[in-house]
Amino acid sequence: METPIEARKHCLCRCTLSVGSTDVVACSVHGLRHPVTAALHIILGHRQAVDVCSISCEGRQLRFAFSAMFGFGGRTLALAGTHRWMPPSQRRDFALLKTLASLKPEACEFSFVPSSGRSDSQWQTRRGLYLSVSVMSIPCLCSVAPRGLAPFTRLNNNSMALIATANTSRSEFIKHLKRYGSPSNQFNFSFVETHAVRAVRLRPCLWSGCPDDTSESEGSDIRSAPVISAEGTHPWNIDGELLDVPGEVLIRVHPGLLMLFGADMEEAEEPLLKCSCI
Ligand SMILES: *[C@@H]1O[C@H](CO)[C@@H](O)[C@H](O)[C@H]1NC(C)=O
Ligand SMILES: *[C@@H]1O[C@H](CO)[C@@H](O)[C@H](O)[C@H]1NC(C)=O
Ligand SMILES: *[C@@H]1O[C@H](CO)[C@@H](O)[C@H](O)[C@H]1NC(C)=O
Repeated sequence: METPIEARKHCLCRCTLSVGSTDVVACSVHGLRHPVTAALHIILGHRQAVDVCSISCEGRQLRFAFSAMFGFGGRTLALAGTHRWMPPSQRRDFALLKTLASLKPEACEFSFVPSSGRSDSQWQTRRGLYLSVSVMSIPCLCSVAPRGLAPFTRLNNNSMALIATANTSRSEFIKHLKRYGSPSNQFNFSFVETHAVRAVRLRPCLWSGCPDDTSESEGSDIRSAPVISAEGTHPWNIDGELLDVPGEVLIRVHPGLLMLFGADMEEAEEPLLKCSCI
């Protein structure tokens, strides 16, 4: 009988995905999207607890998810949604190219609590123009990112990856995106910032920027300030599903909330994957 690791080597994952749907969960947990591998994990009793993000707005719980992308990932998904008549793979490429062609940064403010921090009073704040802000509770392995969209987080270490890409030129941004599929470090750019975090809150701002009168202290009430973006929409890509939230979004990690059958891919050999990420 094949072990799951051997099965990973021998099976090719064939995902035919519509834009936005992702198999990063199956890929991160099983190494690939394959029912045989999943069945083997169940037979062998491999269990893996998985961190989950809770996504809320103004105290209202909106979703539980593994990844939340604001900016590029959200805009691409929103654009793809308006071209449903295209075949899925064509739609995905079209949406990617079109979003890249009209690449625009989002004015936003976000704060985060580093995983090493002890309490919620340690919020750190950034404010400015960002092409993309992503939060992921699992590494999100997929074909265009065989090491994962967020290689520095783990399935279950009570931590999320925060990846913030500040405004830069289109060519530099494309260089950064291409690195996901190459052996070079995709985060080694002056405009990319990454943190291991427990919580993130993000709100879009007016194009002219966020008000400056907000202090960085926990007491400031920036959360309830009304905000209208020049763009009018605030698409989030939540595990491949579109969610438009004009207000502040709060994302928190819930350690090991889900128990899945599988094993963390960090010990496994590099899987052979063909899944889509955006
Ligand atoms: C989770 O793992 C990543 C990668 O090893 C590390 O950077 C991060 O600090 C870890 N988080 C915690 C809470 O240990
Ligand atoms: C974003 O950066 C590019 C390249 O540096 C620049 O040309 C563009 O004006 C910037 N966008 C905004 C809105 O500042
Ligand atoms: C990061 O990039 C700089 C130049 O762009 C290079 O000199 C350096 O070796 C890189 N570091 C890593 C860890 O890849």
